Amino acid sequence: AQDKRESLYVLSTWAGKYFKEQLWDTESGQSIALSYFKERGYREDIIQKFDLGYSPDQWTALVDMAVEKGFHKDYLKEIGLAIERDDASLYDRFRGRVIFPIHNLTGRVIGFGGRTLKTEKTIPKYVNSPESDIYHKSDVLYGLHFAKKAIKDNDMCYLVEGYADVLSMHQAGVENVVSSSGTSLTSGQIRLISRFTNNVVILYDGDAAGIKASLRGTDMLLEEGLNVKVLLFPDGNDPDSYVQTYGSTAFKEYIAKHQEDFIFYKTNILLKDTGGDPIRRAEVIREVVESIALIPDEIKVSVFIQQCSHLLDIEERVLLTELNKIRVQKA
Ligand code: CTP
Ligand code: MN
Ligand code: MN
Ligand code: MN
Ligand code: MN
Repeated sequence: AQDKRESLYVLSTWAGKYFKEQLWDTESGQSIALSYFKERGYREDIIQKFDLGYSPDQWTALVDMAVEKGFHKDYLKEIGLAIERDDASLYDRFRGRVIFPIHNLTGRVIGFGGRTLKTEKTIPKYVNSPESDIYHKSDVLYGLHFAKKAIKDNDMCYLVEGYADVLSMHQAGVENVVSSSGTSLTSGQIRLISRFTNNVVILYDGDAAGIKASLRGTDMLLEEGLNVKVLLFPDGNDPDSYVQTYGSTAFKEYIAKHQEDFIFYKTNILLKDTGGDPIRRAEVIREVVESIALIPDEIKVSVFIQQCSHLLDIEERVLLTELNKIRVQKA
């Protein structure tokens, strides 16, 4: 089994180099993919640092090359670089896409994300490597290998949705950033973060999906004992689009100024839709207390109950009763 995993690592490292060569050393790579990255505003040093690549728009370009190099078809399938047809022939999973290699903590390539260059809405925007013996999605955070030192130094980690967000933030000089790559945050990913810091700032996309994911992510992080702040970008922006539209300085000012403790964030988000209706206001109070009830540290719980009492203008006694009710229900 160890041999097999080692073979998968070797294959995946080779594929990463292959995609990189396709990007830098071919005419179509330069004219289609490199120009795409540059139009999005990425500098060459960032494109190099993250080992970005390109998969040409052909059915078997990678498969042919890999077989020629002597790689096993079983391993190509297993790691998801190739997909098998009914007649047992193989074709490339990644075709006509820019490639974001996914590295593990030690910097080895374990999977890939491929973004389409087309604008049609019918094509999936991203195609990703499937689970394999070396790639367990729920235990991987995109960018962690490049971020871990900065996370330790700053004792804080920014959490974003996407590959592009990680790239643009590095380019802006903010390197303590990881992405859950669209999937909802897992406890495995949170434990990975907590090896380096207990402080997380969620920077999700400023759209309905981002808001929903930020509230769920907040609860997950609180439950694992981490401190959580949240910030949403205006007008549907994500960190990448904000950096590329307004520039690095404006981005850094924005995130310094607008991040807020989860309790203010959640309260304000929920209160916005109540329209002053007292029953819905009561529901908001309950939902905020539900988040507080997840926190394992009693001292923090009592601090947040106090804050919540001021924020919502409710007596602490009432909140504590509610907190205990929630705890009894969960026990
Ligand atoms: N994602 C995915 N499959 C999709 C859409 C999204 O795996 N069909 C993941 C990707 O990791 C993506 C992240 O979810 O980076 C966030 O999705 P989204 O915000 O839609 O994409 P962006 O990262 O903003 O991509 P871009 O800026 O290139 O449009
Ligand atoms: Mn395994
Ligand atoms: Mn999004
Ligand atoms: Mn996005
Ligand atoms: Mn984006």
